[in-house]
Amino acid sequence: MTHSYNIKHVASPLARQTLLDSELTRPVAGKRPIRVLPWLQVVKIGGRSIMDRGAEAILPLVEEIRRLMPEHRLLFLTGAGVRARHLYGVGLDLGLPVGSLAPLAASEAGQNGHILASLLAPEGVSYIEHPTIANQLAIHLSATRAVVGSGFPPYHHHEFPGSRIPPHRADTGSFLLADAYGAAGLTIVEDVDGVYTTDPNGPDGEKAQLIRETSWADLAEHEGPLPIDRAMLEVMATARHIEHVQIVNGLVPGRLTAALRGEHVGTLIHTAARRND
Ligand SMILES: Nc1ncnc2c1ncn2[C@@H]1O[C@H](COP(=O)(O)OP(=O)(O)OP(=O)(O)O)[C@@H](O)[C@H]1O
Ligand SMILES: [Mg+2]
Repeated sequence: MTHSYNIKHVASPLARQTLLDSELTRPVAGKRPIRVLPWLQVVKIGGRSIMDRGAEAILPLVEEIRRLMPEHRLLFLTGAGVRARHLYGVGLDLGLPVGSLAPLAASEAGQNGHILASLLAPEGVSYIEHPTIANQLAIHLSATRAVVGSGFPPYHHHEFPGSRIPPHRADTGSFLLADAYGAAGLTIVEDVDGVYTTDPNGPDGEKAQLIRETSWADLAEHEGPLPIDRAMLEVMATARHIEHVQIVNGLVPGRLTAALRGEHVGTLIHTAARRND
């Protein structure tokens, strides 16, 4: 017969309370998490803005990456680009749910990653899948200076059903990874100098003015198109480590190199994370 005094209790400060009440969990869970890879530089390469342009855009950028690699340890994450847009068009026409479209678009981002990794292979760069990014990034970046992965977060069929186009795309995925790892920085490479007041390539392009520095909160209120996922701005609101993200023009030689050295050469977007929080 088992008596209640034989039951082993596992001591835990959270054992006796609901995890739903943040007042109760804060003494334990409110601390700032450790930086798992504080030396990591995460760089998101635009699918539409860079990869879809082919050799003209990719080869000079690859050459720049070759030269900057000795200075950093890098995780390149690629966006999906035009093939995913085509896929959304066909899939939405057929009525596919967002959770079915997300993994298809993610695989397009992965294809762009494979292309980039192939070009950088002579430098020791490989494409690695999400489970490897999740579990073995440190050992890979001890063996080589850079690896490439897909920027899409692996929500797949868990994608939030609020919209028909997956809201968590490569910018959001890159930010989530960079913040979770406590990375040194996140740089987003586009085909424009940064975030403008309106699309510089749109009908009102002549009026567009570059915003050199802004915050997640101001951009969240910005009406009109942005060159980044809006869901990334939401994630920035609860960031723990990444204090700002820089959007730079990857078509201008030297911009990525300068950004990774901490220079202000594009648009800085400040998150809600503060150094001493
Ligand atoms: N407010 C804005 N400021 C700057 N660019 C803008 C703005 N609004 C729209 N754009 C447009 O966004 C384009 C970049 O498109 P987008 O962000 O979809 O590409 P991408 O990031 O390479 O795509 P992907 O998400 O597939 O990686 C720019 O070339 C620009 O024309
Ligand atoms: Mg973009």
